[in-house]
Amino acid sequence: MADYETITTETRDRVLLVTLNRPQALNALNSQVLDELLSAMADFDADDDLGCAVLTGSEKAFAAGADIKEMSDQGFADMYAHNFFAGWERFAATRKPIIAAVSGYALGGGCELAMMCDFIIAGDNAKFGQPEIKLGVSPGMGGSQRLTRAVGKAKAMDMCLTGRMIDAEEAERAGLVARIAPAADLLDEALKTAATIASMAPLAVMANKEMVNAAFETTLSQGVQFERRLFHGLFATHDQSEGMSAFVDKRAGKWSGR
Ligand code: CAA
Repeated sequence: MADYETITTETRDRVLLVTLNRPQALNALNSQVLDELLSAMADFDADDDLGCAVLTGSEKAFAAGADIKEMSDQGFADMYAHNFFAGWERFAATRKPIIAAVSGYALGGGCELAMMCDFIIAGDNAKFGQPEIKLGVSPGMGGSQRLTRAVGKAKAMDMCLTGRMIDAEEAERAGLVARIAPAADLLDEALKTAATIASMAPLAVMANKEMVNAAFETTLSQGVQFERRLFHGLFATHDQSEGMSAFVDKRAGKWSGR
């Protein structure tokens, strides 16, 4: 694993744990964090020994947003010329699953980053919000789109227009988070869940992620067609015949990733 300054990485069996590590700025997301996350995720995707990742922050903050100090002096020409924030879509395009384990604040870009992951497990102390309006701007890393798809127009408008934070329970009711765990157990719960995913057939894992994500990009009939074709495609894999034989033989499947 590479040496990073703004994140730490460790592997546990087939799971990669990535921890945002700018405690002095409540894990605010600057360009270095983006570069380091992109590098870590490229290595993760390329490593056949890893099946799932967990992205987390500190107990107080998953991430309190994009780095306001980095952005404050920028003008339109710089932002537009450098297509500021466009790199985050490369994080969102990671092919293997990433679970966001959110404790404390997930605000602005922090909420957007959590939503770029495949699902969120929240500590019971988590707080989500899109407070950019209070800075005279708006979400810029996909929040207005991903939040609306996750929680619907009413709550997304409420959150984006008022900047108010919602707690873990409201986030779960709204469909933003998959599960809530007591803050003290959050990382264990996320790592256990990631280990379950990492124990599945790797190509099936990627295909499942790809087809669920397709639901956000296509009509229902195109999405169902896409799913069916990928499902058919999995019948060209060794792991499909192994998985089904193992079921019939009443034994655990042994995956080859082929
Ligand atoms: N960018 C840069 N620095 C940040 C930051 C951010 N988003 N959030 C917190 N920090 C820094 C603070 O400036 C402070 O640094 P100093 O000690 O050097 O002053 C340090 O982190 C600790 O923060 P606070 O003292 O403010 O901690 P608190 O406990 O009193 O408050 C908080 C916590 C409510 C989360 C508060 O820090 C806060 O409101 N942060 C900003 C939240 C925000 O507006 N996020 C959206 C950013 S814009 C964005 O994300 C755009 C986008 O669409 C991608």
